[in-house]
Amino acid sequence: MKILVTGGAGFIGGNFAHLMVNQYPEDDIVVLDALTYAGNLETLEPIMDKPNFKFVKGNICDRDFVDELFKNEKFDVVVNFAAESHVDRSIENPEIFLETNIMGVQVLMDACRKYGIQRYHQVSTDEVYGDLPLDRPDLLFHEDTPIHTSSPYSASKASADLLVMAYHRTYGLPVTISRCSNNYGPYHFPEKLIPLVISRALAEESIPVYGEGANVRDWLYVRDHCTAIDLIIRKGKDGEVYNIGGHNEKSNLEVVKTILKQLGKSEDLITYVKDRPGHDLRYAMDPEKIETELGWEPEYRFEEGIKVTIQWYLDHKDWWQHIVNGEYQDYYEKMYKNREL
Ligand code: NAD
Ligand code: DAU
Repeated sequence: MKILVTGGAGFIGGNFAHLMVNQYPEDDIVVLDALTYAGNLETLEPIMDKPNFKFVKGNICDRDFVDELFKNEKFDVVVNFAAESHVDRSIENPEIFLETNIMGVQVLMDACRKYGIQRYHQVSTDEVYGDLPLDRPDLLFHEDTPIHTSSPYSASKASADLLVMAYHRTYGLPVTISRCSNNYGPYHFPEKLIPLVISRALAEESIPVYGEGANVRDWLYVRDHCTAIDLIIRKGKDGEVYNIGGHNEKSNLEVVKTILKQLGKSEDLITYVKDRPGHDLRYAMDPEKIETELGWEPEYRFEEGIKVTIQWYLDHKDWWQHIVNGEYQDYYEKMYKNREL
């Protein structure tokens, strides 16, 4: 199979590209990424020279470019991770979220229709379901929970999901959607809670906790998300939505304190700051459908995954320090200056 992985220089797409390249030497993996502030080619360095891997720099909103790429490459499967992904940035500047997360999806699906593919897979999020109350642990998100969004980010992702299902029903495009809970693990950009806490704690810097830190997220180790998507593109049914999550609900304060404890740092670093506007209270996924229909099982509980993650950040200081000091953005120039076709 030839698989297009869009957004593969980002956190989850990068982990997915590693998994695909190493696990399926018979498949060809092409990463397409615009290298926005969130894209980092250093994430792809370990697989860059593998014979079944290729990197292409480009924007999913650029219709002519995407058309040409599909015409030349003849993909069998497209997995779309490319997105603006940070809720706080969407509150500051919604527009780019609508462009990439909605219009970019349309451009990709139009190319899929024109050139024919076996499957278009849309990587979506639990945030499309809105939030759950803190005092009702019995409530979980199911695939048929109504869409009910809070932020410009989640509204853009929900819009994309609706468009994907419309392309399936109207044009018969073979699609699947996965909606996953919060991921953590290697190559996570240090603007997001877990890598932010690790990198700032190591530098003895204050840790900003929004509101009272009581909001709850359902944390999944990134590799478990990637194995779920792998199963869906190979065995999932066209037109279906699959929830992904591992029942690892933690309040933000619990997460922050766990990390500080494991790093041997003081809780005095915690600084309570003004809450995020429209801040979702609690996310919690019911992953029963993917477990029973496709046999997916997460490998990591939070307690184990967070240890592995902290160790990865300790062992890969260069990777995140290049982000913190901005050096990662020179990487493309350095590596690709003489390699453009
Ligand atoms: P990320 O921000 O780390 O990576 C996004 C990647 O997309 C970057 O490499 C960026 O350069 C690229 N990109 C952005 N705009 C582009 C464009 N117009 N054209 C081409 N490439 C572009 O994001 P992530 O955390 O890896 O999330 C990946 C996907 O998974 C997103 O669709 C997100 O909505 C979804 N998701 C994320 C989580 C999570 O916890 N991080 C959970 C569920 C779903
Ligand atoms: O649930 C899936 C979503 O998870 C994905 O769709 C998003 O792309 C991804 O960014 C993530 O969204 P969150 O908003 O949940 O993640 P974030 O790491 O930004 O925040 C996690 C929680 O921690 C949230 O309740 C806000 C809080 N927080 C975050 C930051 C960055 C803080 O308290 N302090 C912070 O500095």
